[in-house]
Amino acid sequence: MPERSHFVVVANRLPVDRVTTEEGETTWRTSPGGLVTALEPVMRKHGGAWVGWHGATDESVEPFTHDGYEIVPVALSASEFEEYYEGFSNATLWPLYHDTVAFPEYHREWWDAYVVVNRRFAEATAEVAADGATVWVQDYQLQLVPQLLRELRPDLSIGFFLHIPFPPTELFQQLPWRRRILEGLLGADLVGFQVPGAASNFLRLVRARTDHRVERDGVALGDHTCHARAYPISIDTSGFKELAESPEAVEEADRLLEDLGHPKRVLLGVDRLDYTKGLRQRIRAIGELFAEGRLDPSETVFLQIATPSRERVEEYRKLRDDIDLLVGRINSEIGDIGHRPIVYQHTSYPRVKMAALYRIADVAVVTPLRDGMNLVAKEYVACHPGTEGALVLSEFAGAARELKQAYLVNPYDINGMKDTVMQAITDPAVVRRRRMRSLRRQVETHTIDAWADHFLGDLKRIGQARAGNP
Ligand code: ADP
Ligand code: F6P
Repeated sequence: MPERSHFVVVANRLPVDRVTTEEGETTWRTSPGGLVTALEPVMRKHGGAWVGWHGATDESVEPFTHDGYEIVPVALSASEFEEYYEGFSNATLWPLYHDTVAFPEYHREWWDAYVVVNRRFAEATAEVAADGATVWVQDYQLQLVPQLLRELRPDLSIGFFLHIPFPPTELFQQLPWRRRILEGLLGADLVGFQVPGAASNFLRLVRARTDHRVERDGVALGDHTCHARAYPISIDTSGFKELAESPEAVEEADRLLEDLGHPKRVLLGVDRLDYTKGLRQRIRAIGELFAEGRLDPSETVFLQIATPSRERVEEYRKLRDDIDLLVGRINSEIGDIGHRPIVYQHTSYPRVKMAALYRIADVAVVTPLRDGMNLVAKEYVACHPGTEGALVLSEFAGAARELKQAYLVNPYDINGMKDTVMQAITDPAVVRRRRMRSLRRQVETHTIDAWADHFLGDLKRIGQARAGNP
């Protein structure tokens, strides 16, 4: 058992995933998703412990040190993986919290598994947290942990951050366990959301569905007050910029351009393969631009990279098949031998290759139907060299509130999206540069460090006020 820590992050995933190769060897690789991208630099700076699931089932792994902090693995059985992770987290909460862009399923046995696993995370955290420690619980998979942890360890200062949207009242009320989730979150001293609207949705629901007194952003709970506020998350901007300027990334970018046959223009999409990311609409829109001759496949290539994600969940399987079909159809109908208009890779790349992709992209097309923040948009702005480049961004990504100089689109409006992509390509260089400069300023002044300092500073002040020494 590692020494008890004064700072503990608790997330469904650890920053590294335990995987078994085809040769039967077990090894570790970076876990997918924005949560890990954002929190890894925070942990490297603060030290402490990260409590999370290690990505394999029916296997318990001993704690170990990684990048200067402690990794505390929590085990999941195969049936918990199905019911808690694939089921309640990703087939109930995920679609419900993303505007029901897919149909949420409600199953009582999934809920039971969610409760059991949340309790396990709370118990594991209670064991590793030092007296009076700060614990920061992350995301929708662990919404009961704040309350369960407070029952076990009232001495702790507990923060919670939701990386995804928090739904409007009308949708959240479908959830048979709505009150339990609200009470779970209210166990925290501070609940953070990506945008102010999400914090308001939460407070409105607390007013409507519980008996607690709500005053401004605070909910009075007897032993503590839970505050709900917005803290838009960001990236390690200078880290990404340095990576993109490294000789490795520059070489990789040259190699990529060579492999693509030095096209005049590269459009880029980078996402987890998730139905919230608007891939169907995006590929259709760009396919039509090629079909109509507004984009010439002999000079433009659309590169779409999609990380495999939640591959056994039905909606994700369907999406994968749809995208294969759509890309295949467009490529077989448009272009010529040696000129595929769409290059689609269903794979995960090392970060340096991601930086190289951002370097070579003249336009990044980031068009989710709904997204808590979307870090890819910020990574592109940080990595693309100079003030060239253009970002096409969905109005429905949290990032759109901050990246106002992006070319904003409604991803449901295919014609609108097509026109905006063309505008991003054809606008005079001076306009594109002005927009890019403004985006760059935003990501340079709103970094992951600033985000963590803001949240943890507020949490500390709330803790001091609770202890009676503000
Ligand atoms: P989400 O958290 O929903 O996956 P974000 O856009 O916030 O969405 O974060 C995605 C993260 O995953 C980014 O840090 C991005 O660089 C990374 N990523 C996305 N696609 C790939 C890929 N194919 N290979 C490696 N990393 C990827
Ligand atoms: O940020 C959203 C998020 O769902 C994280 O909570 C999660 O770790 C990541 O995306 C990737 O998803 P998963 O852990 O299900 O592979």
